[in-house]
Amino acid sequence: MAPRSGKTSGLAIPAILRAPGPVLLTSNKAANDAFTATADARAEVGTVWTLDPQQIAHAPREMWWDILADAHDLAGARRLAGHFVTASVDESSSGDFWSTAAANTLTALFLAAANDGRPITDVLAWLASPADRTPVDLLHDAGLDAVAAQLQGTVAGAVETRDGIYETARQYASCLLDPEIAAWVTPPHRSERIAQFRPEAFATSRDTLFLLSKDGGGSASAIIAAAADAVMRAAVIQAERDGGRLDAPLLAILDEAANVCKIQDLPDLYSHLGSRGVIPVTILQSYRQGVRVWGEAGMDALWSASTVKLIGSGIDDADFADKLSRLVGDHDVRTVSVSTSESGKSTSVSMRQERVLPADAIRALPKGSALLLATGIRPALLDLKPWYKEPDAARHGAASAKATAAITERALSKTLGRDHFGPAA
Ligand SMILES: Nc1ncnc2c1ncn2[C@@H]1O[C@H](COP(=O)(O)OP(=O)(O)O)[C@@H](O)[C@H]1O
Ligand SMILES: [Mg+2]
Repeated sequence: MAPRSGKTSGLAIPAILRAPGPVLLTSNKAANDAFTATADARAEVGTVWTLDPQQIAHAPREMWWDILADAHDLAGARRLAGHFVTASVDESSSGDFWSTAAANTLTALFLAAANDGRPITDVLAWLASPADRTPVDLLHDAGLDAVAAQLQGTVAGAVETRDGIYETARQYASCLLDPEIAAWVTPPHRSERIAQFRPEAFATSRDTLFLLSKDGGGSASAIIAAAADAVMRAAVIQAERDGGRLDAPLLAILDEAANVCKIQDLPDLYSHLGSRGVIPVTILQSYRQGVRVWGEAGMDALWSASTVKLIGSGIDDADFADKLSRLVGDHDVRTVSVSTSESGKSTSVSMRQERVLPADAIRALPKGSALLLATGIRPALLDLKPWYKEPDAARHGAASAKATAAITERALSKTLGRDHFGPAA
């Protein structure tokens, strides 16, 4: 669905307001969007956690999440490194030499930091001085000799190559250079009383996790993707422990997924999530947007793994519209033709096949409607029911307006430095 077609108001928000269990939302907007429309309602059923490293909502830092918690083993460290790569480069260039080498280096450094109980900010210091032997020593201490040897090999290699790899890695991890951003994912100072967000506990709670970030390279979107990934994986593990499925299910709304929640193996994750009571909802502006993140094969896998697909207005991709039209299928049309000759009139009836929904009709889908393709049922054309047209719209609308005003207020008080000068008269 194109921008402003009702993805957030017609899909994300209604789903969050009806969710019986924990909810995770990724977003690149705070004011007048899903965050403001649902935070109050969700606070009534559980704790609301807001991870807002770039201060989209100017949310006070009242939580922290240990980004290295799952980086103690090679697979976990590699996944985390992958989030930093994917947030910075498109799928088409994520496999080139520099990206791969930088990802390997980040993997090794994350492993070293995690295994010695150091914060991720130490990785930045190591990236700044490749000659520092500390990470190699730490990897040996942790018994990860092969990884240590590989890192040592990179460090001792040709200087131009090494510097190229390290510079690439520094770019990928650059969002952590901002101490205000890093503070959300590193242990707080002893004097700070800040709650730790724990994905395992979240899975069986009725809490809400808002993951907010700006778009683009250098943004905190790698952190958002890493947190969403960690929550969904922890939920799967928790569900396996509890006998197969989460009760109630965890709803993971990946709004603006191609901008702020690029989880590289999301297509593979999909197959694990559904059967464990984790419901992922990936919201994209177009099919092509997904292709840029996951590649043709990956997007095809994501498409196939989604048991419910909704296509809304603003599809201006001719190939995709034609593919959808073919999926919806054909129907028989009866045509009657009358011909006149010397012997009189004759009528003939013929059948011909026509598209139920031609490609141009899909491209002209009006705002507020959507084509539904779901496993096991016939395609359907739906009217979306945006939250602001539902019976409780007044209540949620008032809450959203209040929360939006609070964001503006916090932004203003920051720029005016009111904290230093006391409240305004
Ligand atoms: N509270 C509201 N009242 C009336 N219209 C709204 C409200 N919130 C959003 N809209 C309208 O709904 C449309 C879709 O918005 P939104 O769901 O945020 O789009 P998307 O997420 O697809 O970019 C927009 O044109 C917007 O003007
Ligand atoms: Mg939206």
